[in-house]
Amino acid sequence: NPKRITFSGIQPTGVPHLGNYLGAITNWVSLQNNKSSELVLYSIVDLHALTIQKDAKMLQKSKIEMTIILMACGIDPKKCLIFEQSKVSAHSELSWILNCITPIGWLSRMTQWKTKFQEQKNIRSIEDIDISIGLDLGLFAYPVLQAADILLYKSTHVPVGDDQVQHLELTRDIAEKFNKFYKKNVFPLPQTILVPAKRILSLKDPSKKMSKSSPFEYSRINLTDSPEEISQKIKRATTDSQKGILYSPDTRPGISNLITIYSSFTGLTIEQVVNKYKNSDSKTFKDSVTEIVVQYLQPIQKEIERLKKEEGYVKSVLEDGANKANEIAKRNLEEVYKVIGL
Ligand code: ADP
Ligand code: NA
Repeated sequence: NPKRITFSGIQPTGVPHLGNYLGAITNWVSLQNNKSSELVLYSIVDLHALTIQKDAKMLQKSKIEMTIILMACGIDPKKCLIFEQSKVSAHSELSWILNCITPIGWLSRMTQWKTKFQEQKNIRSIEDIDISIGLDLGLFAYPVLQAADILLYKSTHVPVGDDQVQHLELTRDIAEKFNKFYKKNVFPLPQTILVPAKRILSLKDPSKKMSKSSPFEYSRINLTDSPEEISQKIKRATTDSQKGILYSPDTRPGISNLITIYSSFTGLTIEQVVNKYKNSDSKTFKDSVTEIVVQYLQPIQKEIERLKKEEGYVKSVLEDGANKANEIAKRNLEEVYKVIGL
């Protein structure tokens, strides 16, 4: 009985940018329309955001903002459950249970953790860790919470970017260990749906991906940017001084990134875009990219403005999502409690 349950989460840590949109959100929209999915859950993972965002007011604001933006992008509460992770307490409860069967060695091997840890070059003793910034237990353990998010609903499919593949493997390892240890097939092993690699690069430094965490505002285009901001950022985007518009991600990453953006928002293939602009200079091409992005975002931004005036409705969507998620979560958590003797 292959019941398909899809789960994914997004952190409310700021306004999503074009990379988030093309790499994740558009995929979420098409998955909710996938008839074979019996249940689709999209969670605003505020407990995860807590590892980064400690400002209460900002966190609260970001949650509503993220929900509004997702809905404006086409996430439809009639087709999926949208809810705040913290409003379904079973996420935290299952997380603790999974903590108790997860060896810390598994977590120490997570690339994201290792990178964060190695960035702190000043660490020579335990006391150095205490005063270092951001190395909280929550950051170390968050892949277990992620496993709990997924397994709580007995999810079978999880769409993620390539940076999350390792965490999905960990989720399967934890699920398998639980099932084997308690000799009960409680959790299905969830499948990774790798989002087609449409990696959008930083406008400032095209050797990096476009990211919310870059301190350079102009390195990313946010979905809420005004036409003027979009124009300024694209004008300023790092490109090379070679002539013509050619797609060559290795040797001309900046211009290739703009071609990818143009192609994504028009539906034209890379070849068609290159053919259209191969004899143009980069200024002309940048103006066209600006026009395409501004045009594409216009209806989304209009919908964002409309929903901002409907905060009561947006909150009711989240409440309804949490109520429904809670029903499933409660049932599954009770099963887990029984199996482990609580
Ligand atoms: P950020 O690095 O901006 O904080 P997140 O880690 O919150 O982004 O990622 C949210 C989702 O967006 C993930 O599925 C991730 O794979 C996707 N994503 C993030 N940045 C990009 C990008 N530059 N290009 C394509 N997809 C991206
Ligand atoms: Na990130």
